[in-house]
Amino acid sequence: MNKLLTLVVSITLLFSVKGYGQEVPDFYPPSIVPDRIVLSLTQYPTREIGVNWRTSAEVTGSYVEFAKADPSPNFPDGVKSTPGHFTGLHTEFDSSHHHEVILKELSSSTQYMYRVGDSTELGWSEWSHFSTAKNDGGFSFLYLGDAQNDLKSMWSRAIRGAYSTRPDADFIFHAGDLVDKADSDAEWGDWFYAGGWIHSSVPTLACTGNHEYARRSDGSYNLSSFWGPTFAFPTNGPKGLDETTYYIDYQNTRFISLNTQAFLIDPTAAERQTRWLKSTLKNHEQKWTIVLMHHPIYSAKSGRDNMQMREAFLPLFEKHHVDLVLQGHDHTYARGTSTPMSKGQNVLDGPMFVVSVSGPKMYDLSLEDWMTRGASDVQLYQELDVGPTSIAFKAYLVTGELYDAFELHKMNDGRKIYVDQTPEDQPELLGIPEALRQKFTSQDWKKYKERFAAYKERKKNN
Ligand SMILES: [Fe+2]
Repeated sequence: MNKLLTLVVSITLLFSVKGYGQEVPDFYPPSIVPDRIVLSLTQYPTREIGVNWRTSAEVTGSYVEFAKADPSPNFPDGVKSTPGHFTGLHTEFDSSHHHEVILKELSSSTQYMYRVGDSTELGWSEWSHFSTAKNDGGFSFLYLGDAQNDLKSMWSRAIRGAYSTRPDADFIFHAGDLVDKADSDAEWGDWFYAGGWIHSSVPTLACTGNHEYARRSDGSYNLSSFWGPTFAFPTNGPKGLDETTYYIDYQNTRFISLNTQAFLIDPTAAERQTRWLKSTLKNHEQKWTIVLMHHPIYSAKSGRDNMQMREAFLPLFEKHHVDLVLQGHDHTYARGTSTPMSKGQNVLDGPMFVVSVSGPKMYDLSLEDWMTRGASDVQLYQELDVGPTSIAFKAYLVTGELYDAFELHKMNDGRKIYVDQTPEDQPELLGIPEALRQKFTSQDWKKYKERFAAYKERKKNN
């Protein structure tokens, strides 16, 4: 009996690590069976898709088998096999192999089935479906703000709610801070647990946040070692910013992903990114331009301001008629414009800015002039429908209620007709999160009440 107890304790210790101040068991040990399977959009979404997955380090084969999806289990069109490569990671628990295959020469607007593995009998995943992008006719996508904390416990309902609302969405965009500790295998395990097979069925698009950066033991501060091996995003950005700063032309829309953390910590990356942004905004003829970035141009949380970044990016956004900027970081919901909107205003000159949050970390709102509608102390997800001449935006509370909505219709001069569709029966939710209530000093309360009163007054007049 004592021997058995010793064995149990030894195994428990073996699979536990001192992780960030507490004992974290390895809930998701890698095995020879692929897990953490995720699809990424590449630069050519009508004819390519990126496939990544994880195995234990003993697996050295990286293959994707795929065929045009067919209801017959005999796959009458035949199965093709494409090899890839893997990257080894030494995590806080063990070593794992992270495999990547880019499927190329696919047909647009086509449903495929695929599985990943090492080509041996036991090493295959289940078969899943995905669809390549359509050439035209419109598309839809889901947008999730920071997930970051309590990913399994509290973010699961956000990603699953979003998928349940729009299971036909063409892809899911994550606005950075997917995890809290950039190199924590435990947290990436939770991110994949929450999304499960959604990650392997609906392509992902993501930009990096500050929490995708980690301080290493040698003092360096770098992008998460998980980012490159986990995703297969484009490498068409400036030097040194592969898979974090990139563009994708999806039907009639140019998506531009910026790496705001690199901008803020590295003057060379800031300069390169600004120069690249200028040419990327200028050299395209897509109808719509949507910028994806973590730190917002206008902060939604009190006491924050990314002035240096705003001074670099905003004039370019305005000059080149960026339509929408989808952001995160401030753990609140807010949307609005550079020049505060007036009541009944139906034309927009510049971009519509949105900040959102999908995880459970909650902050208080800045309630600044740029904001047209806000929310605090709630988790949300958003769906966007992009058509030939309009974009329809809807924000939902994770409990499924529509919270905010608007449409943009592009005019020939680059400006947009704006249609407010805020649900009339949904009042603004401007609660102070419980964790902040505990910390607020009387001075904090005073400031918040002043901001709140000024915001309400402005709303009344506008
Ligand atoms: Fe952040």
